[in-house]
Amino acid sequence: MTNKQIDIQFEEYSTIDELNAEDRELAQAAIEGMRGSYAPYSHFNVGAAVRMSNGQIVRGANQENAAFPSGLCAERTAMFAAGAKYPDKDMCSLALCGGLYGRLTDEPATPCGACRQVMAQYQAKAGRPMSVIMVGAKKIWKFAKVDDILPLIFDSI
Ligand code: THU
Repeated sequence: MTNKQIDIQFEEYSTIDELNAEDRELAQAAIEGMRGSYAPYSHFNVGAAVRMSNGQIVRGANQENAAFPSGLCAERTAMFAAGAKYPDKDMCSLALCGGLYGRLTDEPATPCGACRQVMAQYQAKAGRPMSVIMVGAKKIWKFAKVDDILPLIFDSI
């Protein structure tokens, strides 16, 4: 038996002003994306934004439904909209943020497992890393690739 370890590195910023211009624009788009949230049950508004290889940004927001499983997270609404709109382009980067009643959390919002799996799929489709930026009011985390937030990705089929 050998003990193994997975080492994950990521960047932490204090404000979105510290991000490079492209990431700052994407983070801002995610924050604005929160306005599209429909969350009458949780009141937790989430915004997401995807940057495509043609420079376009596609926004998303969580959409809830009285039949709970029928709703969808912000990240997936953004990625599915981006995939449908630009099927021949790659997803380069995704930013997300959230907060109760539209008030951004201090700590970065982190994506659910299902959204991470969908990110992994689009990253594999692109054949290049997709960075993930988690935005909070007092802290921002940037991961260089989806592998860093979903180690041991399922990609066996
Ligand atoms: N939510 C997202 O939009 N993204 C995530 O990664 C986690 C959770 C949404 C789903 C639901 O509308 C609300 O946040 C509360 O769970």
